[in-house]
Amino acid sequence: MSVAALSIRLARFDELDDPGSRGFDHAGQGRDTLLLVRRNGEVFAYLDACPHYGNTPMAWRKDAYLNGDGTRIVCHAHGAQFDIATGECLVGPCMGQRLMRLDTTVSEDGDVSVFVPLAFASRRGGSEGEGEDEDET
Ligand code: FES
Repeated sequence: MSVAALSIRLARFDELDDPGSRGFDHAGQGRDTLLLVRRNGEVFAYLDACPHYGNTPMAWRKDAYLNGDGTRIVCHAHGAQFDIATGECLVGPCMGQRLMRLDTTVSEDGDVSVFVPLAFASRRGGSEGEGEDEDET
């Protein structure tokens, strides 16, 4: 079974710190709802929604999703720590649960795009660097 998704261009790969993270308000909700993490030359995307409690946003300030050494994603509400590659909670109150990971692509030109299920992409607003193409995955 396939899930309808939008491909949304979020950033340029070479503009992402490694390790580093950035949040994006892809749906024009007035807060970041997606995050990208670059680590060891790979990029990962997740919904900015902690599984511990009510899909809580996780950054403690703009783009601050990682722990001090850039090895885990952290929810700063109650300190849950997530594996960057899988989104699994390794430490904290939601151990064993996972962030919702989104598929990503990096074009030959270095544009990073994510595939956002339509259920999470319906209230888009424009912002710099975004583009979209509807795609079935
Ligand atoms: S809401 Fe994220 S750890 Fe509690």
